[in-house]
Amino acid sequence: MTISRILASGVAAVALAHGAAQAQQAPVIDMKAAEARAAATVKQMTPDEKVVLTLGVMPLPGFPGAPPPADAVPGAGYVPGIARLGVPALRETDASLGVSWVMGLRKDGATALPSGLAQAASWNPDVLYRGGATIGAEARAKGFNVLLAGGVNLMRDPRNGRTFEYLAEDPLLSGELVGAAIRGVQSNHIISTIKHFALNGQETGRKYVDVKIAEPAARESDLLAFQIGIERGQPGSAMCAYNRVLGHQACDSDWLLNKVLKGSWGWKGFVMSDWGAVPGVSAALNGLDQQSGVQLDPAPFFGDALKAKAASDPVYAARLDDMNKRILTAIYAAGVDKNPAQPGGAIDFAKGAAVAEDAAKQGIVLLRNTGNLLPLAKTAKSIAVIGGYADTGVLSGAGSSQVHSEGGPAAVRSLGGDGPFAALMSQQYHRSVPLKAIKAMAPNAVVTFRDGRYITDAVEKARQAEVAIVFANEWRMEGADQPDLSLPDGQDALIAAVAAANPNTIVVLQTGGPVLMPWLDKVGAVVEAWYPGARGGEAIASVLFGDTNPGGRLPVTFPASVDQLPRPKLDGSDWVEPNFAGDPAPGKDQLHADYDIEGSDVGYRWFAKKGQKALFPFGYGLSYTTFAGSGLKVAGLKAGFTLTNTGKVAGDDVGQVYLVGRNGQKLQRLVGFQRVTLAPGTSQKVNVTIDPRLLADWKDGGWTMPAGSYSFALGRDAETLSAPVSVKLSGKTWKD
Ligand code: BGC
Repeated sequence: MTISRILASGVAAVALAHGAAQAQQAPVIDMKAAEARAAATVKQMTPDEKVVLTLGVMPLPGFPGAPPPADAVPGAGYVPGIARLGVPALRETDASLGVSWVMGLRKDGATALPSGLAQAASWNPDVLYRGGATIGAEARAKGFNVLLAGGVNLMRDPRNGRTFEYLAEDPLLSGELVGAAIRGVQSNHIISTIKHFALNGQETGRKYVDVKIAEPAARESDLLAFQIGIERGQPGSAMCAYNRVLGHQACDSDWLLNKVLKGSWGWKGFVMSDWGAVPGVSAALNGLDQQSGVQLDPAPFFGDALKAKAASDPVYAARLDDMNKRILTAIYAAGVDKNPAQPGGAIDFAKGAAVAEDAAKQGIVLLRNTGNLLPLAKTAKSIAVIGGYADTGVLSGAGSSQVHSEGGPAAVRSLGGDGPFAALMSQQYHRSVPLKAIKAMAPNAVVTFRDGRYITDAVEKARQAEVAIVFANEWRMEGADQPDLSLPDGQDALIAAVAAANPNTIVVLQTGGPVLMPWLDKVGAVVEAWYPGARGGEAIASVLFGDTNPGGRLPVTFPASVDQLPRPKLDGSDWVEPNFAGDPAPGKDQLHADYDIEGSDVGYRWFAKKGQKALFPFGYGLSYTTFAGSGLKVAGLKAGFTLTNTGKVAGDDVGQVYLVGRNGQKLQRLVGFQRVTLAPGTSQKVNVTIDPRLLADWKDGGWTMPAGSYSFALGRDAETLSAPVSVKLSGKTWKD
């Protein structure tokens, strides 16, 4: 039995460290016992009962279809239970960043975690675990027992509108982190999904874009992120994606669902569809177990139509039993039935905010700091704060993952449109005010604010102050991609003008992903704060004034130009209308995304292969202290090295080990990482275990790790590598 199969079958919740700090262990899930119970329950089900768990609705008042069932909680989904058999209804809510507001229907507030990318920039599985545990507890307190969390699509294109929800461009980093988040969610006796399975790399034409990719490339990249995430997190459910893969809808893909997920990986959970992603009843045969949000599909395929098929066709009948067994296995494994979630539980906003603030602090990345402009002295006399609604709140990303933090949004900037999805297309700011937090840090300073609409006025204020802090925002949403990587609304010109007026200009970025920085050489410092969540303002101020020494590292490459990308022009971006609902556009069959261009060389691997220099590479991040890595030794699949804080203040470093060559072939793959906290002048030995899949290639239906010479290097980031260390490793081949 291979490692992945042992974990997927849930014999023991063993989590291999793979170089990541060991996130807290969730309760051991006994999948075998859950499966046996599920099989016994299926035996007792009537034909009518067998299509109860397979069909879900959106329980939203005012939505088309029947009114929400009496025991539903307003959220993304509801699947009725079977009282006779003690099977609870499934009450589902989005998402990875907190319990979502569901287009304004929920007014009860929830902890808004920083964006997925912000959490991932911590490179710390414990951050993800604590975030998952917090939002899972809140979901439970609101009566939900399924959290539609676990977004782990790799960033194949930095313009992807959902980049802020996802984690990284690397399968190891993404898989480790999503696994920790899922463990956190499920520690509350609720089910988490992992999503969107798979290759959902762009929002443009998301419901019909057809992804072309060869199996080896998929297995070594996007699928590996899911595989590692499933092994670490043991999610009860996987949500299949909107897009097509090799000509089939992902939710109707025999290859993805039956062959890879359930076959090769031996995963025992259930596949739920994304909302409006089911093409027909045949999806059941191709591995889909549950149709979600039926109002968004052409028909309730997994209700009466499926029952009729099962009555006349033994293949469907067997499949229907398996569908029920899988859904029940997830319910029993998470203990959903024995630990019922009830609405009306209290939300501890202060506790949630502390978790969100810590995640934001750990994920903020210092990108530039000329002449040690940062940290600012708390004795500063005058500071001009400019732009980005810094007097109001902190930015968040939009779509199904949108959370209303305590008290609701501080400001909403409407972007027009009408209908049920219009509310989703608005910029929302959480109630955490950077300006206030800056004033609190420098109580004796004269702090002025200008909103940045008028450059002359902002420049004048910047000229009068010792320091100018420009907040620059880049907003993203589900359902549409970014047309390019610029900062919108003339912010590039604003920054350039302010920097020309004041050499001590600091730019604080709140972005949903990579952006270009044409003004970079002109400014003193750049802080990437992402979408920093419920206490983002406090976290930003803490970094600016040095109470927090930034230790975040980029989980994605910031390109210097879109011309460096595998697809300088995003597929369909010139003819598909941005449309949240994703309704098919004319000519939809012509929309293809060719992922064979880069294959498994996603992100920094593409840059390494092409010899391109990024604006800021994967793994990059500065600190208020300095670090040195040394003594890399690799023996078998174990790597060891030492990290030393060579500066004057305490700080966090992230050790990164890369494979850089194999039998003379140049390669680049992250094979291990660990975040450590070091007092000045101290060192720590770090050991990481290398997952052999990261040294291998997928070919002939399995993994092949050739025998021979492997070279590894310690990286400050993906472009700044130590002298390589070579070792001889024996070869092997294995199935998943
Ligand atoms: C999104 C999913 C989400 C679902 C339910 C879809 O539009 O793609 O991520 O979980 O809606 O709200």
